[in-house]
Amino acid sequence: MDTKGKVGIIGSGLIGRGWAMLFAASGYEVCLYDILPEQVSGALDNIKMQLRDLKKSGLLRGSLTADEQFGLISGCSEFNAACQGALHVQECVPENLELKRKIFSQLDAVADDNMVLSSSTSCILPSKIFSGLKHVKQCIVAHPMNPPYYVPLVELIPHPETEQSIMDRTRALMKEIGQSPVSLKKEVDGFVLNRIQFAIIAESWRLIQDGVLSPEDVDTVMSEGLGRRYTFIGPLEVMQLNSEGMRSAVDRYGESIQRVLSTFGPVPDFGGQTLADINVAMCSRTPATPEALAERRRWRDARLAALATLKSEMDRLISG
Ligand SMILES: NC(=O)c1ccc[n+]([C@@H]2O[C@H](COP(=O)([O-])OP(=O)(O)OC[C@H]3O[C@@H](n4cnc5c(N)ncnc54)[C@H](O)[C@@H]3O)[C@@H](O)[C@H]2O)c1
Repeated sequence: MDTKGKVGIIGSGLIGRGWAMLFAASGYEVCLYDILPEQVSGALDNIKMQLRDLKKSGLLRGSLTADEQFGLISGCSEFNAACQGALHVQECVPENLELKRKIFSQLDAVADDNMVLSSSTSCILPSKIFSGLKHVKQCIVAHPMNPPYYVPLVELIPHPETEQSIMDRTRALMKEIGQSPVSLKKEVDGFVLNRIQFAIIAESWRLIQDGVLSPEDVDTVMSEGLGRRYTFIGPLEVMQLNSEGMRSAVDRYGESIQRVLSTFGPVPDFGGQTLADINVAMCSRTPATPEALAERRRWRDARLAALATLKSEMDRLISG
């Protein structure tokens, strides 16, 4: 079968598997490498099963059959063979700076001048991983959300020396494989997703610590309130639509927003009695055992999958 080109994946855990499926769904040839050969064979078995289930439930991405997609993914026992000739290499090894630096110096040695060298890191700054590499201009962080098959956001973060063409090319590639990229103009600690998420966690924590709301009710505010809206529009568009445009929103609510924000106080310490209380509440919903957590994750992923389908059909279902 003709392919669109080769993509190398380094690390075949949760995220490596997700990327492999996304690239194959779009017709890329994928080489999956892992330091543990049994991880690669386990990943291939798992991907085969996932593709079969996706086909059964009608959620398979792309126009290729499940067999054709699986046929595009091969396991690779050698690092260099997985990367050589690839247009894009996506690193997916555990979140450890020394390990990532080692992988990228190996990659630097095999890369040609056309390869994009990309890391899936959740929170290590590009300048920490890529500085000093010969191919630093071709390096980028492409941070996915979990599970990437159903949650399409990818944050693209440049190293200070990354070429704009590499940012543009990676953004186009992410769109082509059906993801929704956002491009940071420069690196910042926590990137953007986690900066916003951490702000929400901090205020949620404070509201419980100050005895305002129970942990259950804090989660309900998101899942039944803000989250419902945010699945379609972001906080800025909420302002635009809830008033007569952005200027009107700031005229009406700007002062209140500033007043409330000034009461937020310092960063919580995330410990003590508040942690004990939140832990009891969370464990009463989902005990912190591997089985219970796995079951609840399946519950979550099934709903995320259904939401992804609904969102992709929504324009067809709702006119105007
Ligand atoms: N899990 C998430 O929710 C999530 C979301 C976004 C980004 N990320 C990021 O993606 C990366 C991978 O996370 P994950 O959850 O897939 O981890 P994981 O532990 O599931 O998988 C990591 C894989 O890397 C392999 N590995 C370890 N050392 C290696 C080496 N030297 N060479 C090749 N392979 C090696 C391991 O054998 C394992 O299969 C991390 O940087 C993480 O922060 C994770």
